[in-house]
Amino acid sequence: MKSLSSSVLALAPSMTVAIDTRAKELQAAGQDIVALGVGEPDFDTPEHIKDAAIASLREGKTKYTAPTGIPELKKAVSDKLLRENGVKIPADQVVITSGVKHAVANVLQTLLNPGDEVVIPAPYWVTYPELVKLYGGTPVFIPTSVDTGYKFTPEALEAAITPRTKALILCNPSNPTGMVYGKAELEAFAKILVKHDVYVLSDEIYEHILYDGRKPVSIASLGGGIADLTLIVNGVSKAYAMTGWRVGYFAGPAPIAKAIGALQSQATHHPANVSQYGAVAALNGGLELVQKMGQEFNRRREFVIESLRAIPGIKVAMPEGAFYALPEVSSFYGKKTPKGKVIGGSLDLCEYLLADELLAVVPGAAFGDDRCIRLSYATSMDVLGKALERLRRGLLALV
Ligand SMILES: Cc1ncc(COP(=O)(O)O)c(C=O)c1O
Repeated sequence: MKSLSSSVLALAPSMTVAIDTRAKELQAAGQDIVALGVGEPDFDTPEHIKDAAIASLREGKTKYTAPTGIPELKKAVSDKLLRENGVKIPADQVVITSGVKHAVANVLQTLLNPGDEVVIPAPYWVTYPELVKLYGGTPVFIPTSVDTGYKFTPEALEAAITPRTKALILCNPSNPTGMVYGKAELEAFAKILVKHDVYVLSDEIYEHILYDGRKPVSIASLGGGIADLTLIVNGVSKAYAMTGWRVGYFAGPAPIAKAIGALQSQATHHPANVSQYGAVAALNGGLELVQKMGQEFNRRREFVIESLRAIPGIKVAMPEGAFYALPEVSSFYGKKTPKGKVIGGSLDLCEYLLADELLAVVPGAAFGDDRCIRLSYATSMDVLGKALERLRRGLLALV
């Protein structure tokens, strides 16, 4: 067989997806697995969204449309950005993508030339550095830790920027850390980005999952020229419990929207019409359901963090947004399992928890920080209760 693309062969498969797939295989084989691996709301998609999608099928809206998405959805995104974020981006600068992951891929493919650097705060969402490398760029990490609430400073950002820096990837609220940057912090970052003419890929997928009265702030809404450098990616997967519908979007400067449109016209074309009509109903349908889900996530967050803090040896920050906890568990490294295996790091720990406690969580190594593990609390209190019991038992059994 002839050799395959070296950049594709160098891709590390998503560890969160791998763990979820493994957990599902074990469940299918009859094992009582408790899975906190994947970041997927356990709620069902709201009925009015399903109804709108079904109606579109019945009306025969089943043919090819524009590769950048149906006009109704592009308008709904443009309206949403103005209404919810105070950001003015016309509908013709919006491109509908097959999920936010696809929007991130399209933006990076459109931006990067070989040797370009992209600054990524760590711990990071698993996909960012892999896609940067796939499209010829070099990820440059800004490390953060639980002791500073997983936040980076404007000084750290400026120190990471070189003449080759093309963009910063800002995931706010963050997966996996749960931290949220407010307006003043974003203003300080914006000043530096404008000064150095660096784009910001602003992943706002968790914008409505915020706790303790926080309100979403898009960096694009700030003044001083940052709007021209902000590349918003967002979608309906998390806020409307629509992960399987595969609808996301890009919104930003006209030349970039045009280039992404050309890319989609040759590569993927538009996401399924039926999903796009569902997404129109989601974005135009108000935020009541999102807020209800948020209250439930908050209850779960408090339970999870309290339970984690009750386990001696764990350090954990209170998440301010999204639905992940990222406990620091390195005090358990070097210890032995009841079967005599030494836990060398987060991969070993997660393997042990899956094999011995039937608990699926994601190793911090996947997010660029081997000191921690990630738990998703987008699942029921029953499942969380079982999971935390298994985690506690598993960790305390290490000697
Ligand atoms: C930060 C972040 N961006 C994007 C995505 C992907 O979203 P989608 O399912 O819409 O592709 C995820 C999913 O876990 C995520 O955590």
